[in-house]
Amino acid sequence: MTELKQFTRKEVAETDRKFTRIIIHDKVYDVTQFLNEHPGGEEVLLDHKGVDASEDFDDVGHSADAHELMKKYMVGEIIDAEKKHSQPKKGWVAGQEKHEEAPKSSFTMYAVVGIIAALLFALWYM
Ligand code: HEM
Repeated sequence: MTELKQFTRKEVAETDRKFTRIIIHDKVYDVTQFLNEHPGGEEVLLDHKGVDASEDFDDVGHSADAHELMKKYMVGEIIDAEKKHSQPKKGWVAGQEKHEEAPKSSFTMYAVVGIIAALLFALWYM
């Protein structure tokens, strides 16, 4: 197995201006070549330059495609002593694409059907 390049958080923060490196769940991504292509815009990536963007990245709810794509930009990881071991939200595990949106959307569907049924019931008896 090839060892990943090790970075301290300080090294990522002090990266040369030419590069845009971002930390997401203890992995370091070089998104310099991705700035123009990022569907969420380059501004948001530049705002997170050199810092830990794990939480904001998760909050956006990036898709399976986005998780697949980010592998391409991974250039290393944070040294063990500085890892936060934060877990991706929504059941995402690095390399194992599985998330938990399905139960939520089927719950919404049942809720909508329930509300419509209740309205029809109310109308019928009015
Ligand atoms: C290597 C890192 C990243 C990759 C590969 C990536 C990829 C993507 C992709 C493919 C999308 C389109 C929507 C989707 O498929 O989920 C997207 C949207 C977006 N991304 Fe990223 N992204 C990265 C990092 C970030 C970071 C650090 C932020 C900071 C908060 C961010 C914020 C957003 C936003 C705001 C959108 C738009 C969401 C919307 O329009 O609903 N992304 N990103």
